Amino acid sequence: MAVVVNDRGVANDGTGSDTTPAADVAAEIRAHGGRAIASDHDIASWDGARALVATAVTEFGDLDVLVNNAGILRDATLAKMSEEAFDEVIRVHLKGHFAPSRWAATHWREQYKAGSRRRRNLIHTSSTSGIYANPGQINYGSAKSAIITFSQIAAKELERYGAVSNCVVPGARTRLTLSSPGLPEIMEAPAEGFDVWAPGNVSPVVAYLSGSDCPFTGETFYVQGGTVRRLAPWSIAGESIEHPTRWRLDELAERMQRFSPRQ
Ligand SMILES: NC(=O)c1ccc[n+]([C@@H]2O[C@H](COP(=O)([O-])OP(=O)(O)OC[C@H]3O[C@@H](n4cnc5c(N)ncnc54)[C@H](O)[C@@H]3O)[C@@H](O)[C@H]2O)c1
Repeated sequence: MAVVVNDRGVANDGTGSDTTPAADVAAEIRAHGGRAIASDHDIASWDGARALVATAVTEFGDLDVLVNNAGILRDATLAKMSEEAFDEVIRVHLKGHFAPSRWAATHWREQYKAGSRRRRNLIHTSSTSGIYANPGQINYGSAKSAIITFSQIAAKELERYGAVSNCVVPGARTRLTLSSPGLPEIMEAPAEGFDVWAPGNVSPVVAYLSGSDCPFTGETFYVQGGTVRRLAPWSIAGESIEHPTRWRLDELAERMQRFSPRQ
């Protein structure tokens, strides 16, 4: 196994820079007999993402798996959110998934055309905020919701190059969740027994989705503790109403009653 551990070491409000955690993880992998280096590219920058993919190829000869996981929070309600808080969260999450995936896909396409038939794996990180629409996170939730669609489109496009694309929706005690009001108390580690909020609980699922025999693509899995749930993709909810020509407003208003408002 050979890994590039990329992390800028920014706090979840986007400030600061501490590359020690990435270096520590790379050292831990090496101590267990793996090959690993640390890097600190900005994954949401076009050149940073390209350099990250190039680092893997130059250092280790190829790239089989890309895990998109970087994230920040800038919570605020819609009426109070700044342009900067919106742009930066969309940049780090959505463009931060797009840019590395784009350079990985370009590499895989070239390799496929050159005759390689290796399995390639993309793993993306969404959030319950993007599924259940958490108030106060209109930037983050929108990006996280978009990441699921991004993964599904990538799955369809990259199938021809032997690549799969799947998403995880993690629930774990990390710097990000420890900064969210109310969560530190809920996620506190127990004195003994299974620590259901330990971030390492998510790792086996990421490792599984990284496997060369992973049978899934375009799927999204919620992972927390020992629980793994597959999410259903967007679907039409029940009945539809039909009109042979364009609706008149009064007719439509009457027939819309067929859809009972959601609670
Ligand atoms: N912890 C949870 O329960 C939870 C829930 C839902 C989603 N997530 C998602 O999981 C992912 C990992 O978050 P976490 O919980 O481990 O939080 P974390 O704050 O511990 O880790 C996020 C990492 O992203 C890095 N980062 C931020 N911007 C970057 C950039 N531009 N380039 C490179 N690295 C950058 C930070 O340095 C940080 O180490 C995020 O995408 C987050 O949205 C986490």
